[in-house]
Formats: sequence, C-alpha cells, structure tokens
Amino acid sequence: MFHLPPPRKRGEVSLEEAITRRRTVRSFLPDAVDLSELSQLLWSTNGLVDPSGRRAIPSAGALYPLEVYVAVGREGVKGLEVGVYRYVVEDHALLRTLDRDVRKALAQASLWQMWMAEAPITFALCAEYKRTTVKYRERGLRYVMMEVGHAAQNLFLQAVCLGLGAGIVGAFYDEEVKSVLSLPEDHEPLLLMPVGHPA
Ligand SMILES: Cc1cc2nc3c(=O)[nH]c(=O)nc-3n(C[C@H](O)[C@H](O)[C@H](O)COP(=O)(O)O)c2cc1C
Repeated sequence: MFHLPPPRKRGEVSLEEAITRRRTVRSFLPDAVDLSELSQLLWSTNGLVDPSGRRAIPSAGALYPLEVYVAVGREGVKGLEVGVYRYVVEDHALLRTLDRDVRKALAQASLWQMWMAEAPITFALCAEYKRTTVKYRERGLRYVMMEVGHAAQNLFLQAVCLGLGAGIVGAFYDEEVKSVLSLPEDHEPLLLMPVGHPA
C-alpha cells in the first residue's frame, strides 16, 4: 500500500474561474505530474472529506459504488512507479494492481483515440453496480451514472485548479478496457480521464 500525501482543503483558483476555464483537453506535454497533484485529484474524485465517511461526491444511500483506478505512465508521476493503481479511499492510498504502462493499450481500446496515450496519467472511473442496485434495484443503475458524472466534474475542476487539464472518454470497448486494466469481474469502467499538463 502506497500512502498519498494528505490533500489540501484550500486553493487559489475560485470555483467560478475553474468552471469558466474547464475544457476537454486532448493534447498534453510529456511532463510528469507531482505526487501531491495526484493525491489532490484522487481526493476530489472520490476522497473522504470528514471522519464520518462522507466523500467529495454525493452517493445515493451513501452506498458509494465507484472505484477509481489510475494508469501511470513511465515517469508519469514523480515518485511513483509505472503501472495501474487502485485508489483505497479509506486510507487515501494506492494499491498497485499492474506493473506496466497500459496507456497505449487503453487508447487503442478507446477506438484508437491515440491522443489519450500522451497524458502522463489516466483515471478510470469504474463502478460496482451491486452496491447500489442491491437497495435501489434497476433504478440504482441510473444513480450510479449520475454519481460518475459528479466524480468526473470534480476531477475536471480540480485539474484546472492545479494548472493541469483533463480529457474525458466514454467511447471505448468495455471488455477491452477491463482486460487492459485487469479489473475484477464486477468493476465496470464508465469513464476514462487522461490528465496532464495541457500542450
Ligand atoms: C459522457 C461523455 C463522453 C465523452 N466521450 C468522449 C470521447 O470518447 N472522446 C472525446 O474526445 N471526447 C469525449 N467527450 C468530450 C466531449 O466531446 C466534450 O465535453 C464536448 O465536446 C464539449 O467540450 P468541452 O468539454 O471542452 O466543454 C465526452 C464527454 C462526455 C460528457
């Protein structure tokens, strides 16, 4: 388990400015992201905001179906080895699940959107549907889709606040992405978000 530096709760860019500046970025410099930036991005996407277990994003029934993975390229994050990591929310930590650079394979699985592979890191926002559907049945699927939208927007806005940029990709082959990321059978990929320094 790799413990991340604690996130900061104050920033210099206003919410209004971040909303105004947010764009889907599809071109990145090869520069690495700092560990503190990765920590901040993960926290904004699905992190804990208070000791009671509440998170940065709302969740129907507080059931929290989302799982966040991050594909890190070679020298993509200063101080972190290449590979795929799962974000362990309770510990604000990362668990390495693969030890290779999967960014090109992810881009190919996303209808060959090769611009994605330029970004030093790519987030995979995934869901374990049954955490929500066990309570809300079929309607739970709708709730999960809404929740991933909340997570994606937080990631987008946090990237802007850090002087970074994010892309967003919904066009991919589910089974291929699952296989590239070696996801557990019940973790379904919903959005891929490459992040880095905009070119
Ligand atoms: C659910 C969803 C899926 C998307 N999938 C892709 C995608 O596969 N490839 C891509 O280049 N952009 C994708 N986009 C980005 C949109 O093209 C983009 O948000 C839109 O053109 C508006 O531009 P803006 O985000 O810069 O405001 C997606 C956006 C959303 C919300």
